[in-house]
Amino acid sequence: GLKTFWQGKSLLITAGPTYENIDPVRFIGNRSSGKMGFAIAETAAKAGAKVTLIAGPVNLATPQNVKRIDVRSAEQMFDAVQQHYASVDVFISAAAVADFRVADMAQQKIKKQSDSDEMTLKLIKNPDIVAWVAQQVDKPFVVGFAAETQNVIEYAKDKLVRKNLDMICANQVGDNLGFESNENELVLITAQHQQTNPLSSKSQQALDLLSFIAKNEAIR
Ligand code: PMT
Repeated sequence: GLKTFWQGKSLLITAGPTYENIDPVRFIGNRSSGKMGFAIAETAAKAGAKVTLIAGPVNLATPQNVKRIDVRSAEQMFDAVQQHYASVDVFISAAAVADFRVADMAQQKIKKQSDSDEMTLKLIKNPDIVAWVAQQVDKPFVVGFAAETQNVIEYAKDKLVRKNLDMICANQVGDNLGFESNENELVLITAQHQQTNPLSSKSQQALDLLSFIAKNEAIR
């Protein structure tokens, strides 16, 4: 079962949003609370896994027996993941990483331009962290999440293939769904298997997810 598999395994998890600074007082962010990733970290640690949790800006306590690394931006999260992925058995990317960052962060607070009703921010693409890990020769078992507002399973399967993931956890997001809430509904998908876990607490979802991985023979 769960403990037999996870005892002694090492697990790297990302959780929460990333904040992309505009200037010293403003940023672009998203509604991820980190609850899903933290629930996975807590449950895995209880099952005996060695857990490293890379957390974006969130308001959550560190679960017991979890090594936590705090980051703010996608680039900082990428650095931390690059330092840790090679020594783990499983990598779970539950973070809502900003796809873009501000091209030129202002060093001083941007002043309101009184002669204009518009302002333009130039954004550039952030690295895709989970796709990068999945490309490495020494990659761990790589689990992504897919947050979608429609065609959830179809888009998730597309991400599984496109990002070369071993597994993807699809969740519908939107008003009171996925982000921020205490409950979630996940569809767990690998090349061979698909399992729908109906709405339950994020702790229960974490338990079901970790059990699913334990059952999946694809992992060493
Ligand atoms: O944090 P909570 O409030 O508990 O909410 C949980 C959640 C909804 C954030 C979580 O369940 C979830 O779905 N996380 C992934 C959100 C997301 O960014 O999905 P995506 O479809 O944009 O990205 C797909 C995958 O690529 C994800 O594993 C993501 O971590 C990863 N990614 C995306 C972009 C990027 N630059 N680097 C990445 O690694």
